[in-house]
Amino acid sequence: MLESFKFHHIGVAVKKISSTAAIYVDAGYKQLETIFDPEQNVNICWLTKEGMPVVELLEPVDETSPVNKTLEKNGVAPYHTCYVVDNIEETIAQLRRMKYVIVSKPVEACAIHKCKVAFLYNKNIGLIELVEAPANI
Ligand code: NI
Repeated sequence: MLESFKFHHIGVAVKKISSTAAIYVDAGYKQLETIFDPEQNVNICWLTKEGMPVVELLEPVDETSPVNKTLEKNGVAPYHTCYVVDNIEETIAQLRRMKYVIVSKPVEACAIHKCKVAFLYNKNIGLIELVEAPANI
């Protein structure tokens, strides 16, 4: 993690978006439309509430979805934290020197308005997602 990181959202692995989203909606969150993200092979649903961190629900679409491992091990559970960075390539180079491993290289992600997105892992931090340029959520 770097000092320049700006927190964007927490991603939560869920078995069924509708079952989890209903609980957030009851608590005053606004539920956005569910989108299929072909890069992560998951369905994604954003939940927002003023003054609260943005929550992203990630639901598997088949047995190859990467969230399945988390669901099998922990059930419904936090999956990643996401940070906005100014330059994703430079940030990744810096993080690699800090022993972060690239899980997925920067790609244009459909779920976050065509921003560049990458995932990295560090054993003391867990899975983090980086987004280049501020997203509109
Ligand atoms: Ni995310």
